[in-house]
Amino acid sequence: MVQMLWTRQRIREERGPDWFVPAHPAPPTGRFGALERLLSARRSLIGAFHEADYVSGCGSMRVLGRRVILVNSPETIKYAMVTNHENYERKSPQLRRALRPIVGDGLFISDGETWKRRRPLVADIIHKDTIPRSGRSMEAAVADMADRWQARPAGTVFNALPEMAGLTAEIIARAVFGQKLGAGAAHDIVSGFSRFQRLVDSVNIPYFLGADDGWPLVRGPRLRKAVANISRVIDKVVADHIAGRGDHNSMLEALVHRQARSPQLGLDVGALREEAATIFMAGHEGSAATLTWALYLLANAPWVEEAVQREVETVVGDRRPTLDDIRNLAWCRAVIEETLRLYPSIPIMARQARSADRIGDVAVEANDLVLVVSWLLHRANDLWDRPRHFLPERFLEGKRPPPYTYIPFGVGPRICPGLAFGMAETVLCLASLVQRFRIRVVDGHRVEPSCRLSLRPLGGLPMIATARA
Ligand code: HEM
Repeated sequence: MVQMLWTRQRIREERGPDWFVPAHPAPPTGRFGALERLLSARRSLIGAFHEADYVSGCGSMRVLGRRVILVNSPETIKYAMVTNHENYERKSPQLRRALRPIVGDGLFISDGETWKRRRPLVADIIHKDTIPRSGRSMEAAVADMADRWQARPAGTVFNALPEMAGLTAEIIARAVFGQKLGAGAAHDIVSGFSRFQRLVDSVNIPYFLGADDGWPLVRGPRLRKAVANISRVIDKVVADHIAGRGDHNSMLEALVHRQARSPQLGLDVGALREEAATIFMAGHEGSAATLTWALYLLANAPWVEEAVQREVETVVGDRRPTLDDIRNLAWCRAVIEETLRLYPSIPIMARQARSADRIGDVAVEANDLVLVVSWLLHRANDLWDRPRHFLPERFLEGKRPPPYTYIPFGVGPRICPGLAFGMAETVLCLASLVQRFRIRVVDGHRVEPSCRLSLRPLGGLPMIATARA
């Protein structure tokens, strides 16, 4: 039994002539003890939940020596992430340990004074007002990719996950670093990060045995090589900017200038590098996974794809979609929002409680592991109508989910500062791809959602794109 849980999860995917329930792990309904949870989680964090967890509420459990608090109702999420957020702003030791080799003390995993000092700087440079500056590069990057697809022989199979990661890495590189990444560097970063996710242990057993900071990350030669490939590319762009060789309109340049004007910020070369790496990683990974999942969903719901295509035809016609079109692309936006509900790219937000507290009826002790799980919240049976169905209509005509039931970008002071950037980019890319191609999953391929650091289709997603007449 334990061996089976370790090696595979049972995946369910169902469809009818006009409905689609996309791939998800079939949650166990019988006995599912702490050890089984832990072993399932080592393969994929979203496999660690029982059918009974798919309902709103707040509860605690002991996993070996560690108390885990599952915060999964709108009221308790509001309490932990907003009202008393200071007690829960520290990311879990597992996540900090796993990401530190790549982003150092960057915003995504920092806390306390470092986070407070750097958050306004980073949030400012990726604020929604700065997006129009990136519009042209977004449009050009997706058009370049579409041209490459069009030039391929009909029926060519490609893996959508690295393709989308290459695209969003190119977009974020042009926006943050002000320069084209180029195919070689994009490949180094994208494959480096994929390898890193595969190799890094997302569940540290000693942590569950009581070591509050877990044990140090084991860095074998393959993991070290993956990190080195990523760092080499980022270090070079940062060095170029500091030496004055970078683009003067880039986000990184804005950080360099701000530091020059206000040395008290303490953004030394190391800190600049950490924040550049953070924006780069956080800025391309979520969008890439979202676009990949959106292509999978559309491929399996041709009635939605048709509505999206008709909308693009009406709003955009034959020209290239631009950032200005986005406000008129309601279907495209609804598809992205529904994709983020079903497959939030960070499905688990894990925190370490600073001190004793009470969330709802549950007593919290210092160092407890507190989990806000958008994967569960977005699929809670009592909060959503047909929670496992792909129904973008729930986001059309101004319909919005009630507060604290939909949190794909997080919530509270640590909410994603790239929310507007990510939405603009994914809507634009989706519209551009649907305008030019009919995209299908290769026959017989079984999709398995899997989460180690982010939620991705395990092994990627083999697809075929057919150019529209
Ligand atoms: C669809 C795309 C995206 C999704 C789904 C997404 C999701 C998230 C989530 C859920 C968090 C909060 C994690 C937590 O509280 O534990 C987060 C944080 C963050 N995101 Fe995003 N993100 C996306 C795009 C972006 C982009 C485009 C950028 C940068 C341009 C970005 C930069 C960041 C940064 C720097 C943080 C850390 C913020 C902090 O801790 O103060 N993200 N993201």
